Amino acid sequence: YIFLRNETGCCRSRIKNEDRIIRKSKMDRNQIKVLIRQMTLEEKAGQVTQLPSRYFAIQGSQLTGTETKLGISEEKKWLCGSILGKLDAVSMRNIQKENLERSRLQIPLMFMTDIVHGYQTIFPVPLAMAGSFDPGMVRECARISAKEGSAAGYQVTFSPMVDVVRDPRWGRVMESFGEDSKLNCDFGKAMVEGYQGENLKDPDRLAACVKHFAAYGAAEGGRDYNTSDVSEFRLRNKYFPPFKACIDAGVKLVMAAFEALNGIPATANPWLLQDILRKDLEFEGTVISDWGAVLELIKHGVAEEEAEAGRLALESGVQIEMATAAIVKHIEVYVKKFPHLEAILDEAVEKVLILKNELGLFEDPYRGVDPEREMRELRSPDKKRAAFHAATESAVLLENNGILPLTKETPVILTGPYAESKNILGPWSVDGIVEDAITVKDGLILKGGRIKEVIQTAYEEVTEQDSDRIVQTVASGDVVVLALGEPELWSGEAGSRSVIELPEHQISLLKKLHEHQIPVVVLLFNGRPLDLRKVKEYADAVLEMWFPGTEGGNAAAALLYGEKNPSGKLAMSFPYGSGQIPVSYDMAPTGRPKADLVQEPRYKSQYLDIPNEPLYSFGYGLSYTEYDVQVNGKIVRQEQEYLVPVKVTNLGNMTGKTVVQIYIGKKKSLVARPVKELVAYKKIELQPGKSKEIVIPIEEKTLERWIPGKGWTKEKGEYTILVSNDGRNFQRMELTVG
Ligand code: NOJ
Repeated sequence: YIFLRNETGCCRSRIKNEDRIIRKSKMDRNQIKVLIRQMTLEEKAGQVTQLPSRYFAIQGSQLTGTETKLGISEEKKWLCGSILGKLDAVSMRNIQKENLERSRLQIPLMFMTDIVHGYQTIFPVPLAMAGSFDPGMVRECARISAKEGSAAGYQVTFSPMVDVVRDPRWGRVMESFGEDSKLNCDFGKAMVEGYQGENLKDPDRLAACVKHFAAYGAAEGGRDYNTSDVSEFRLRNKYFPPFKACIDAGVKLVMAAFEALNGIPATANPWLLQDILRKDLEFEGTVISDWGAVLELIKHGVAEEEAEAGRLALESGVQIEMATAAIVKHIEVYVKKFPHLEAILDEAVEKVLILKNELGLFEDPYRGVDPEREMRELRSPDKKRAAFHAATESAVLLENNGILPLTKETPVILTGPYAESKNILGPWSVDGIVEDAITVKDGLILKGGRIKEVIQTAYEEVTEQDSDRIVQTVASGDVVVLALGEPELWSGEAGSRSVIELPEHQISLLKKLHEHQIPVVVLLFNGRPLDLRKVKEYADAVLEMWFPGTEGGNAAAALLYGEKNPSGKLAMSFPYGSGQIPVSYDMAPTGRPKADLVQEPRYKSQYLDIPNEPLYSFGYGLSYTEYDVQVNGKIVRQEQEYLVPVKVTNLGNMTGKTVVQIYIGKKKSLVARPVKELVAYKKIELQPGKSKEIVIPIEEKTLERWIPGKGWTKEKGEYTILVSNDGRNFQRMELTVG
């Protein structure tokens, strides 16, 4: 026995050494096929079934409820090939052990969950991290997530999510890398690399599952699970490429989306799951449905009952049915009625077994998991340092009239719903440890700031009494740090909202402080772009923290006091108002562009009441210093790249980082291409007064577009190259492509 002790020295668990015995060696493709031939039909159907961990009692197998909930017996339950949800090292070992005792062919179980922006150490939400414009940083965060998650017994994470998003009403925008396809490609790829590494057999790696295929982010009206209707032109040019980037990076699983795309539910869509995914995008791994999505085919109206739903999903290309059991329940009937399904089932089982084999589960079904390793890995100090770094790099300074950075001597009155709230981990941090979260108050105190008063308020109600007290506490020379935002549950899955303003009372408090001429720094905690018109009007500075994760308060304090210089840029535009939605920087041109028709008052593409431009566009974000960005010579073609020379100067007196962004437009094209699209970027750090000459490569293949009737085409002729570091001001260059 190995005895393991927790922090208090108590014996936490015992592990028998024989549990570590290697049960089978690595298999080759042929041996997997042989194994499949030995399997009964039911055993095969079991492998393509994934059940929630709550059906598996931690000690033994009683009281699991599958009979009532899923209609399958205890015996059938243990045929399932993979488990999702809540776990820890001890339970994983117990469940796996029982499985192996029951499994006739000694097939190990695989454990999956949603580790989206950290397991127990939580990083900022992905939408925030995309604003770092630093895929390397995100790769490291994913690496850390894999270390924590694998130590707790998992082998697969349902991440990254690379749905391109243009509608901030949709609560899941926080899970995406934003509105730009290239950022989703780069960050998705980086996350896959961070989770999977070079060798998936390394016990501290996780297989990644990219989701949700496809266009789930285009839910009509921004209402979650709603249908999406997206042209093939846009799907191919914007929505599919991030999946392709993850596939090229070796992602092992793809999750089919919940919604119906162009009339056909993604879970029963052979065009999507076979023609596009397998043939065009060349995916060879495993396709998993989303939670309960197989049975939802009945609600979508394409299947009449459970058996039909399971058959449609299997036939269309789903290889793991998540959280329901249609396939395993009806397999005998399928094969009698539709004999061709057996070969399809065999293929699905093969994908599942290949994945298990790649993960090294046949050699070590426990994958080196033990409570000691778990204790060592979870929430270790190095991981918290990475979370702090990520939170400082992801925050975006939206406004600053010079009030920031604050000195530590400045007396601060800290108030608002996020003044001392620990609920800053953000949606999809299911296993995050809320008690670990550093609040804004903790952060300011830890930095040695002078906190005069802390007045915590509610999200939706600030009493007259509280706001009067706040105003009365302020003396000359004081600054109010007002930590505002949306509660966590207002975004994330099923967190759609029609109004994307802050709650009325939060705005009233801000307005009142403004009317009393009190200097106010607004810190924002939220999972989606908001309509910030009023905040912009009344605040002296606005720092968008998003949901910053475990180290949020420390990051906020470091930024407020100027120990860190804000460098994040928006990965998703903040609309001027909800009426502009969907809005993104890469809109197609119109026949009547407002900017060109200056003399025409009416008949042009415009709103009569608001500007066309978002309040804060993609790529926007301030710093405590200013940068001069100059195109520095001609673009040179070298091998498969176009090199754009840029000179960047830090004009201020503080070291800082900025992101040089390169966009392209095509002057004349076969199609109406967006006026500008991001093709390259580079984040650089500069000391005060220093300049750097850099060359930013545009990969030649990023010029290609999918054109109806032609496929992927690199159009020749004149291109416009636009260079910017704020998404607002652009320097223009010409590029001729021969
Ligand atoms: C539903 C969500 O849509 C998906 O993203 C997630 O991975 C699964 N549930 C599993 O939790």
